[in-house]
Amino acid sequence: MVEIVFAKLALPKNGVLVLPVDEGLPLVGQAAELDETLGGALSRAMEAAEFKGKAGQNLNIYNAGPYKRVLLAGAGKQDAPRRAELLGAAIVTALATESEAAIVTDGFKAEQAAEIGLGARLRAYRFEKYRTTQKPDEKAKLKILKLLTAEPKASDVAWKIAEAVAVGVDFARDLVTEPANVLYPAEFAERTEALKKLGLKVEVFGQRELEKLGFGTLLSVNQGSAHEPRMVVMQWLGASGHDENKKTAKKPKNPLVFVGKGVTFDTGGISLKPAAGMEDMKWDMAGAGTVTGLMTALAGRKAKVDAIGLIGLVENMPSGSATRPGDVVKSYAGKTVEILNTDAEGRLVLADVLYYAQQRFSPKFMVNLATLTGAIIVGLGHEYAGVFSNSDELVNKLVVSGEAVGEKVWRMPLSKEGEGYDKDIDSAIADVKNIGSGRAAGSIVAAQFLQRFVNGTPWAHLDIAGMAWSTKDTGVNPKGATAFGVRLLDHFTRGFED
Ligand code: BES
Ligand code: MN
Ligand code: ZN
Repeated sequence: MVEIVFAKLALPKNGVLVLPVDEGLPLVGQAAELDETLGGALSRAMEAAEFKGKAGQNLNIYNAGPYKRVLLAGAGKQDAPRRAELLGAAIVTALATESEAAIVTDGFKAEQAAEIGLGARLRAYRFEKYRTTQKPDEKAKLKILKLLTAEPKASDVAWKIAEAVAVGVDFARDLVTEPANVLYPAEFAERTEALKKLGLKVEVFGQRELEKLGFGTLLSVNQGSAHEPRMVVMQWLGASGHDENKKTAKKPKNPLVFVGKGVTFDTGGISLKPAAGMEDMKWDMAGAGTVTGLMTALAGRKAKVDAIGLIGLVENMPSGSATRPGDVVKSYAGKTVEILNTDAEGRLVLADVLYYAQQRFSPKFMVNLATLTGAIIVGLGHEYAGVFSNSDELVNKLVVSGEAVGEKVWRMPLSKEGEGYDKDIDSAIADVKNIGSGRAAGSIVAAQFLQRFVNGTPWAHLDIAGMAWSTKDTGVNPKGATAFGVRLLDHFTRGFED
């Protein structure tokens, strides 16, 4: 992990120096001064290499004056969205072989310098715990990134907030990357208990408690597994305040509620998935990972808001005790569900948790995240998550936050209960069935199923199946787990703080 530090603006004596350069503009400030000291060596190199300062463009000059290496880093156009954080990410990539470097940020405001740090920190993430041997180029080398800025104090203040978000993102990435033999429901639940020391209240529900509550649909998914299921409720009461004394413990008033699908492995159950690519289903708990990372971020930056995170943790396995296609189970809401495909399990988990969340907390609104359908990847690929909602206001806010942090969402249609797409999940023998009658509109049908359990609460469902995992490096994300939604919902939550 790279450590980000801010220091007073002044050219360092030696080492590795990074100079961001605006697209199409001549060198200015400290960079121009250094160029002059070096007799124009930098500007001559820029011309010879046709370096224009485009975002992501790099020019290295080794042994320039007292410096081991000067990296001219293309900063792109001044009004480009997310320019600072993307610059930070690009610099980390370019500096892969260095252990320490200093970036001159005199062209950026104090908060933007912190954004450079955030992009750098996020892009530098590695998951290395299972490597016992390593080729040198596989090692994360960069240890310290010094940002030289006019107002280091102001940058530090902004950084403390950004860093809390980065910690949440990295926690979510760790959870999502863990293999399913390590991260089964009980282990996941145990890891959320670490949040207690950030001031969150964490409750863990086991098999017996869930049975007592009557979580029939969630339990039906786990019933073929050798592991027990869990539900975790994480409460961050940053507005109404925490109270150590249980008797007078405050109850949040209309909190923001976030719900995550946590299928620690999805084999499909008796409706077994094909072998090819099944290993991807270790990240079928990404919705729960994101909710956990989000709660970490909110607590870490002491958000002035009441927010509750709930995650349903199960493993979907085939066995002699597994649910069969055609089985009918009773949900916590009391509705009966005919399970026609045991691979449509995420909605069964969410149905019980959404209904519970809504009953217990009377939320201002609920947002759930789930790697719910392969069909959303067919529709939107890996650029946008799908958002389904009964509230235009909620959607608009989510879209704006998504654009701001580069975790984009695209609205998909949703019918009212009893109309349009909703009719496709009417069952012949129960209240509802867990799949539609064909392959048509698979992601929408799944959303319609969830809507039957939200009981009119303002609600949005993010189908993140195409976004939770990336097979290539992009922007601030190295390939692998993206923690999609942590930054989006952190940004979104800021709109509800006072
Ligand atoms: N976890 C999968 C969805 C998924 C697929 C996530 C690919 C990430 C990548 C989900 O539980 C599932 O299996 N959905 C089925 C639903 C179908 C049986 C109606 C699907 O999408 O095929
Ligand atoms: Mn499935
Ligand atoms: Zn699944």
